[in-house]
Amino acid sequence: MSGPKILMTGASGGGAVLNALLASNFGALKASRITCLVRGAEKAQSLEKLGVKTISFNSLDETEILSEVARENDVVIHAASGFHTLSARALILGLAQRRQDTGKEVFYLHTSGTSNVADRPMTNEYVEADYPFSDEGDIFSYLKKRDFGVPYAQRTSDIVATEIGLEVGVKTYILMMPSIYGIDANPFHEFCHTPILIRAAMKLGKVPVVGDGSGIWDHVHIQDVGRCYEIILNRVLTDDHVPSGKSGIFFVESGEHTWRQLSQMIADAGVALGALKSNDLQPLSLPEAKVLLGKGWGLIAEIGWGSNARTRADKARKLGWEPVKTSADFESHATADWRAILDSSGLPRG
Ligand SMILES: NC(=O)c1ccc[n+]([C@@H]2O[C@H](COP(=O)([O-])OP(=O)(O)OC[C@H]3O[C@@H](n4cnc5c(N)ncnc54)[C@H](OP(=O)(O)O)[C@@H]3O)[C@@H](O)[C@H]2O)c1
Repeated sequence: MSGPKILMTGASGGGAVLNALLASNFGALKASRITCLVRGAEKAQSLEKLGVKTISFNSLDETEILSEVARENDVVIHAASGFHTLSARALILGLAQRRQDTGKEVFYLHTSGTSNVADRPMTNEYVEADYPFSDEGDIFSYLKKRDFGVPYAQRTSDIVATEIGLEVGVKTYILMMPSIYGIDANPFHEFCHTPILIRAAMKLGKVPVVGDGSGIWDHVHIQDVGRCYEIILNRVLTDDHVPSGKSGIFFVESGEHTWRQLSQMIADAGVALGALKSNDLQPLSLPEAKVLLGKGWGLIAEIGWGSNARTRADKARKLGWEPVKTSADFESHATADWRAILDSSGLPRG
């Protein structure tokens, strides 16, 4: 019997999830056939060299194409964007048609982020007393309550994906990432906070920190993210008991840090490499952070760079996931990121 057909978006990014599926020793995944939706012929060619099929598209706004392609698959992993609600909806509706066509269960895995559960400590717009959150709690109701107060596209997408999945009979799993760190198979793919802070430091001469930097976030290495998808998907395909729908929200973390610790780590590594003269930090007010780090959005500056968002990946651990990377890996990652950025910019280091 042939294995499950899996459709992935976002595989041309870090590649960690795709690599983990391709290298997996789990029988269900070994037997799977993977198709990647990808933008651009060059990216398609490099993915095909890994042995996967590719389908070209231009944008996540092409919802008709997304539904048609999802209809040909048993599983969709949507890793391109947690913020694009309509693409999530289109992929789930395509899977629902697949279920009607084949009479078999279909599964949707969605990449999201823990800024969805972040507080607002600088504006005091939202204060949270109950961190850290276990994903064994009722996170779905919490997301609904928060989104009723202030809609936030990534959170709205999680809610819509969960509700539409329940409505049309597609099992959904939301994997909510904290700050992803590390360098994976694609050395040019940069994950979030550390590379952005390094690039800002190269302009400012100092590593920025928003406010007093006392907010606490979780982190996880990109390779542990890949393994987490592998383990959850294997269990989803082989075991009826993986929580889905409103109970299908999974946190993915291996430790936590304050924003000040992260910035200081980057500053110390920058000085050690001769890329910075001083390891003093550059404090940013919220309006300054909005321009420098928040893409012009005050909300993003606050929840993405100065908030608390403390989560515990209890469900994934119960399914057998254990992060391989340690706090020592987190503490040394800034040096590797600096080196990669300095090398790609052709700038000298001391
Ligand atoms: N990075 C983190 O630390 C982090 C933390 C928490 C949550 N997340 C979640 O993970 C998602 C992916 O994060 P990332 O940092 O890997 O994102 P990314 O670098 O922006 O994109 C990764 C992949 O998605 C594809 N993609 C992005 N936007 C697309 C669009 N509009 N249409 C088609 N393809 C698109 C990219 O394709 P191309 O190669 O064609 O550009 C690439 O393959 C985020 O949206 C977020 O919800 C990330």
